[in-house]
Amino acid sequence: MQGKVGIIGAGLVGAAAGYLLANVPGVSEIVLLDMDQTRARSEAADIAHAAAFGSPALIRAAGDYADLAGAQVVVVTAGTSLKPGQTRLDLLAANVGVVASVLERVLAVVPDTVLLFATNPVDVMPAVAVRHFGLPRGRAIGTGCALDSARFRDRLARHLGVSPSSIHANVLGEHGDSEVLHWSGAQIAGMPLVDFAAKLGHPLPLELREAMTKEVRTSAYRIKEGKGVSNFGIGGCIARLTRAIVNDEHVVFSVSTFMEELLGVEETCVSLPHVLSAQGASEPFLPPLDRAEEAALRHSAGVLREAIRAGLG
Ligand code: 2OP
Repeated sequence: MQGKVGIIGAGLVGAAAGYLLANVPGVSEIVLLDMDQTRARSEAADIAHAAAFGSPALIRAAGDYADLAGAQVVVVTAGTSLKPGQTRLDLLAANVGVVASVLERVLAVVPDTVLLFATNPVDVMPAVAVRHFGLPRGRAIGTGCALDSARFRDRLARHLGVSPSSIHANVLGEHGDSEVLHWSGAQIAGMPLVDFAAKLGHPLPLELREAMTKEVRTSAYRIKEGKGVSNFGIGGCIARLTRAIVNDEHVVFSVSTFMEELLGVEETCVSLPHVLSAQGASEPFLPPLDRAEEAALRHSAGVLREAIRAGLG
């Protein structure tokens, strides 16, 4: 059904996504599903009460997976979330099994849906869908570095005093410690970012770029130290990517999909720019990179290839 979205996992991430999705044009129905049905029902009721202030979307909790019938997009947030001191790859063993069992049940009901994964390690989950369930690669999408790209733009926006929506800057590779901030391709107003920043009187010297890189890469860790969970950033990311799919927007985001090969690394799953439409994700686009970025992206692809091998065999 056009505009029906399923969310598996009604924890703080699933609930934030549902809350934001309720106000996304084109989303007509949201079904929240969780092993804890009381929690799913309560979150659905709370979101529905907020939606009653103006959203036309129907919000409900699902009794079981059959209620997903007709979902155009299914968002997977189920599984263990990152605790302070952990990396996303530390969740591999626990969450691959959870996601595989979720997929078995989701795909029995909606085999043609577009899957959007937010469960960490988020880049590995599209590989589970492609390798274990034979899904076409474009219909299994990890939110990947779409969130990191938003964090990158937000950080730049604060420095420059320019809206994030005017900043063209992406993060590539792993949604995690090996991610690559694509400084050499960043632009504002058709100008290289660094030139624009200098002209604006807010230069971006190397030391500042390095500090910003570290800050963006570790932002989830700091958020978790402070509040125990990161949910609104990823919720916003899920809502925006889902909107692109539901409305067939053909907009470009840095998300992760399964790749047979990237920069000589076989069977990996990293974030690169993709066109998102009702069909899911296009083929990935590898932008021009400088030497250091290319080496870093190859390294990141290797980290994820090893994670896929460890998690999927
Ligand atoms: C985040 O980056 C934890 O992956 C989650 O917020």
